[in-house]
Amino acid sequence: MSKRIIVTIDGPAGAGKSTTAKAVAEKTGLPYLDTGALYRAVAWKLDRDGIAPEDGEKISEALKNFKIDISGGKVSADGEDVTEAIRTAHIDEIVSAYAARPEVRGALAGFQRAQAADGLVADGRDMGTVVFPEAQLKIFLTASAEERARRRCAEREAKGESADYEEILKQVIERDRFDMTREIAPLRPAQGCVILDSTTMSAAEVVDAIASLAKEIEAQENR
Ligand code: DC
Repeated sequence: MSKRIIVTIDGPAGAGKSTTAKAVAEKTGLPYLDTGALYRAVAWKLDRDGIAPEDGEKISEALKNFKIDISGGKVSADGEDVTEAIRTAHIDEIVSAYAARPEVRGALAGFQRAQAADGLVADGRDMGTVVFPEAQLKIFLTASAEERARRRCAEREAKGESADYEEILKQVIERDRFDMTREIAPLRPAQGCVILDSTTMSAAEVVDAIASLAKEIEAQENR
């Protein structure tokens, strides 16, 4: 049987990581792991249970028996389908604070590694730096803050929601600052990664570039 590889795609919010990672997974036949969805599901649960991001002890306790399932494009938390509930503006706002907690990161790192037996494409913030430093292909996918805010606006509008570009740009910049300066697993390019700036690239160009690199590396690994 051929050996499957690990492809990590890290980068700031709105760089197109999840769309790209899904398409790369499809093209390469590797499983896809959306780690942002895991952080969102944890934030959803802790917020619902009234546990503050500052309360490390309660967080540890709550996560001991927390059941999370992410398969078939659905996310479930303690058996409840939260696929839609984790994509609200409210979760957007609160998730960074929970994701900065060591208790949360520790619990999710183990879960993420356990998914990698048959290789995978995983997107997030610390896939290449912390969770899968041994990955055969590490991508840092970025785009200018203005372009990312513009894409986020277009997404919201496509869903029929209102979107204020200036407000979204402010949020994008603020979330970058928070994710890049947090103490644990700050967002930064991993050692040995390929940095892809997608500001002037189409989504298809980005996917093709990563998928062909992945196929090449996988072929080399199996030679
Ligand atoms: O990519 P996203 O917007 O769904 O991520 C949600 C939040 O989770 C965001 O604040 C960054 C955080 N996150 C993280 O800290 N580490 C990851 N591997 C993935 C996401």
